[in-house]
Amino acid sequence: MEKHVFYSPAKINLFLRVLNKRDDGYHNIASLFQAVDVFDTLEFQLSEIDFFTCNDSDLPMDSSNLILRALDLFRRKTQLKFNVSVTVDKLIPTKAGMGGGSSNAATTLWALNQILGKPATTAELMRWSEELGSDVPFFFSHGTAMCTGRGEIVDELPPLMDRTLWLFKPAKGLSTPEVFANVDLNTLVDRDPELILQGFFNNKPVFFNDLEEAAMKVMPALREFKEKVQNMGFNVLCMTGSGTAFICDLRNPEDETIYPPVHYVNRESDGWYIKVDV
Ligand code: C5P
Repeated sequence: MEKHVFYSPAKINLFLRVLNKRDDGYHNIASLFQAVDVFDTLEFQLSEIDFFTCNDSDLPMDSSNLILRALDLFRRKTQLKFNVSVTVDKLIPTKAGMGGGSSNAATTLWALNQILGKPATTAELMRWSEELGSDVPFFFSHGTAMCTGRGEIVDELPPLMDRTLWLFKPAKGLSTPEVFANVDLNTLVDRDPELILQGFFNNKPVFFNDLEEAAMKVMPALREFKEKVQNMGFNVLCMTGSGTAFICDLRNPEDETIYPPVHYVNRESDGWYIKVDV
């Protein structure tokens, strides 16, 4: 049977404001999400039985595996009967705040829908995906979006002018619920998300993340890690998501670096994200 390859991009949060805590335990946020060109590769092939392989043996194989959950969700919503073999090549680090699991879930829904004759619209896929996690709907946008609510309300934005950025992450990751649980709402700066957003389109970007202090409370070594990256000649702009990756740029743009940068990516209207050599 034919093999179908789809790319699953990472995301970064150019700013992330935590607004308040809700009765359901989630926090309302306002965040500018941007897809970047760090990709996992997912290969799908219809088959006699379900089969799942991944180059990262740390990926859980239980119900917390977002690819398997997306597969279940698609079957439940469409009532289609099929089996599929999925091979995953993971490049996006886990527990980095780069949305790897969420992106894989969105890519799985998109890919199954394509392979099985488009039984659902993109709007339906996006709505269904809210069940899988707060960050999943973003990946059905075209790559740049303001996300509010718990993150699942996605307002599409035009592409931003690309910037050369670097991502640095310590070996250890952080758990999203633990970081959110450590946010001290009283200490956060009351910045207006709409004004901050305008800054990104008017060439006056202000990068920040209200989860950064909470992440450092959970993992104090993160502060030293940030300093280490600064000493290597980078400006650390802010942490992404619930960490532990940091968005950086080069302090002296004329300097050379051996580290590969990342670039913003946006997808075409009817297509999924593709890899482009830059
Ligand atoms: O939506 P997701 O499953 O990714 O969220 C994981 C956990 O992170 C939630 O159960 C919640 O504890 C926390 N979270 C939050 N506010 C958000 C998103 C996540 O408190 N906006």
